[in-house]
Amino acid sequence: MNILIVGSGGREHALAWKIAQSDHCKNLYIAPGNAGTGLCGTNVDIDILDIGNLRQFSLENRVDLLVVGPEAPLVEGITDSFRIGDTKHINIIGPSAYAAQLEGSKAFAKKFMQKYDIPTAAYLEISRDNISSGIKFLEELKPPYVLKADGLAAGKGVLILDDLTEANAQLNDMLNGKFGKASEIVVIEEFLSGIEFSVFALTDGKSYVLLPEAKDYKRIGEGDTGLNTGGMGAISPVPFIDDLLWKKVVQSIVEPTIKGIAAEKMDYTGFVFFGLISVGGEPMVIEYNCRLGDPETEVIIPRIKSDLLQLFRDAVSGNLKDAKMEVDSRSASTVMMVSGGYPGDFDKGKLINGSEKIKSSLIFHGGTKKTGKEIYTNGGRVLAVTTLNDDYRKAVRISLSNADKIHFEGKYYRHDIGFDL
Ligand code: AMP
Ligand code: GLY
Repeated sequence: MNILIVGSGGREHALAWKIAQSDHCKNLYIAPGNAGTGLCGTNVDIDILDIGNLRQFSLENRVDLLVVGPEAPLVEGITDSFRIGDTKHINIIGPSAYAAQLEGSKAFAKKFMQKYDIPTAAYLEISRDNISSGIKFLEELKPPYVLKADGLAAGKGVLILDDLTEANAQLNDMLNGKFGKASEIVVIEEFLSGIEFSVFALTDGKSYVLLPEAKDYKRIGEGDTGLNTGGMGAISPVPFIDDLLWKKVVQSIVEPTIKGIAAEKMDYTGFVFFGLISVGGEPMVIEYNCRLGDPETEVIIPRIKSDLLQLFRDAVSGNLKDAKMEVDSRSASTVMMVSGGYPGDFDKGKLINGSEKIKSSLIFHGGTKKTGKEIYTNGGRVLAVTTLNDDYRKAVRISLSNADKIHFEGKYYRHDIGFDL
């Protein structure tokens, strides 16, 4: 099989690393990829949103399977574009634009959850036409107040505010273009207090298999302080998830979600990422994503023992019902090494040294670029250092000692991944 992965982060490197190990893999391409994916297959210099050129490339190179990593091309309709004309024989891991609204529109996701009775925070959808209802709803809620831009806003569209006056002002700003088109609609939510974790399913739109679960660490600073990032580290499995919580997740969230996807006849072959929170032992949905997480993928994929391409084949042929997901019982941890200044301004083009010598961890590249024989930083999140071990604390310690041996000017990483467990 010839495979094209779309994306350039640690998630895509982990997918490429795993796919390249499959006997079903003939040629593997990654667009645009990074220095790490270049070790697993051939990088192709096409932007993730350049759907025309991705189609063209796929035809010319007889791609059989398209695996879409990030949400933006899915929300833009890459799957729908490939489903028509001379690319329609190409199988796709990634939902249609309509189905991707589960991530691309918070209001769409909330309506879906309400319709299928999936536990989530109380909410109200507000536009400029019903702003007074928004103000009234905020008054009824207890602080903190949660305001969400309906559309994709590069991970910045959620505001959590302690003060009612500030919440009203921000609601107004959002509806008047604070996040552009993304916040023309705002979802106001009840604040949920609890501990967050992430669950992942691969679905063919009717059945599903569950992947290992994970917990990520989103804040830049130790002790979960400071600005939000794409993710500074992750752990899998999640020690506090016991059999009872897991059963509730499957029964009250995963099953009704997949049933809803089927009932709505969504064209959905791909991953569902359930961003969950346990509120006093009761799981609730914070958000859906229509793809895998980053850096969650860097701990999930190394724990999957099954052939991922076989699972993708089962998914695209609608045979997931009987598929088996074999999982390594060991824990995986990943520590994300980032550029100094991230998630604010940072420099690129810093020489990276020492990563090739690491043997006791897997190094998944995010923002990296190979020039000549050298590898340079090329983004905020640079390298994910993943370790498997029977004890997640040991796994974190090994990742940290290896991160210490890798050098680039301005490197930063959190030393406390898993600290709260
Ligand atoms: P989202 O983009 O919807 O995942 O929101 C980003 C982050 O905001 C989540 O990971 C949570 O930490 C927080 N958050 C979102 N919605 C709520 C809520 N209703 N209650 C508490 N925290 C929330
Ligand atoms: N790590 C969170 C995400 O991928 O959305």
